[in-house]
Amino acid sequence: MLNFTFKNQTEVLFGKGQLSEVASRLPHNAKVLFLYGGGSIKKNGIYDKTVEALGDAEVVEFHGVEPNPEFSTLMKAVEVARDNKVNFILAVGGGSVIDGAKFVAAAVNFAGDPWDILIKEAPFENPLPIGAVLTLPATGSESNGNSVVNRKETSQKRAFSSESVQPVFAVLDPEFTYSLPMRQVSNGVVDAFVHVIEQYLTYSVNAPLQDRFAEGILQTLIEEGPKSLATPTDYDVRANVMWSATMALNGLIGKGVPQDWGTHMIGHELTALHGLDHAVTLAIVLPSLMYVQRDSKKEKILQLGERVFNISEHNEEKAIDLTIKAVQDFFETMQVKTRLSDYDIDKTAIDGLVDNLERNGLTALGEHGDIDLVKAREILTLAA
Ligand code: NZQ
Ligand code: ZN
Repeated sequence: MLNFTFKNQTEVLFGKGQLSEVASRLPHNAKVLFLYGGGSIKKNGIYDKTVEALGDAEVVEFHGVEPNPEFSTLMKAVEVARDNKVNFILAVGGGSVIDGAKFVAAAVNFAGDPWDILIKEAPFENPLPIGAVLTLPATGSESNGNSVVNRKETSQKRAFSSESVQPVFAVLDPEFTYSLPMRQVSNGVVDAFVHVIEQYLTYSVNAPLQDRFAEGILQTLIEEGPKSLATPTDYDVRANVMWSATMALNGLIGKGVPQDWGTHMIGHELTALHGLDHAVTLAIVLPSLMYVQRDSKKEKILQLGERVFNISEHNEEKAIDLTIKAVQDFFETMQVKTRLSDYDIDKTAIDGLVDNLERNGLTALGEHGDIDLVKAREILTLAA
């Protein structure tokens, strides 16, 4: 096992009715920026419940954070936060709203151009504390320090990560997910699945507990994911998916082990250039990446096949093919298509995607840093 430090500062408030705990978790004299998305919370009642839960706290609202949160929108939220001198951000929504809140938190007291936080890892000071009310289990953003921000004008999707913007608390009420459109339920399960894979499907460092944590989450998603489509208001199913998605990317399973993230980095370019949903990009890229990296990932792909998909084929090359197919079939079972052509993107798009990887300096991806632009092209070509 590799050396690591592990701390997760997010207090998870899990289950029915936990939103009522919010007021007691706010700072003294709280002046809260209540940040949310395109309005789903107004339709499903979470907005009203949040207003009630905020009690007597002074509240300023900012809404309109879009999926794949836009830099220009978030900069407007930064202005509102500055003008009103807020001292806390409550993000109510999915990964986009929570990621957006982290960027706003970092940018509020940043003297220069906040875009530098994303492209130059510019250090920032005194970020605002954040609380999260999760409405879409997928990204793990509610209990990690990652933030991904899109900038349409430059066709870039960039990330930064800092413990200092990680939510101090996260409300996870499975009932808040009942109103999700099926497409977002599917996206969430696929995203969480791939988060586990990025931290598991590398090479062995003799960390069996980490492997089994990862396999446990994958098995739970495989069992519960299809049920969350079939019986959308089954509380236990939604609870199990929600907790799996949080555990997939709250830092725990990635400690002491190598990590890949190549699928995510290539996927981000598909969103930046073609606007595909984040999870869709992962479902397209991962099977092909597994195929191209089948030699360096051999041991772990075989372990995934045997332990998670119950594949008992003795011929190793065949077992690897069956495992890749099982992953692809799972995505399709979750109603997420896995080819570029399924989204009307043809091979002529690949040049642009590879160019964008180069422009963003993403030329040595994967746990060995060996996914260069040639391999990235190979992966995208296979996924066509
Ligand atoms: O905007 P509203 O009206 O709230 O609607 C949203 C949005 O249209 C809707 N939605 C959310 N909860 C709902 C609901 N609709 C009905 N009922 C509910 N309960 O769902 C749509 C998608 O929301 P979004 O937040 O964009 O989805 P997701 O949670 O999948 O987040 C995706 C973003 O997170 C980033 C992605 O790149 C993408 O920008 N990621 C963040 C990560 C992190 N922080 O660690 C890791 C991930 O790999 C990922 O990159
Ligand atoms: Zn993801």
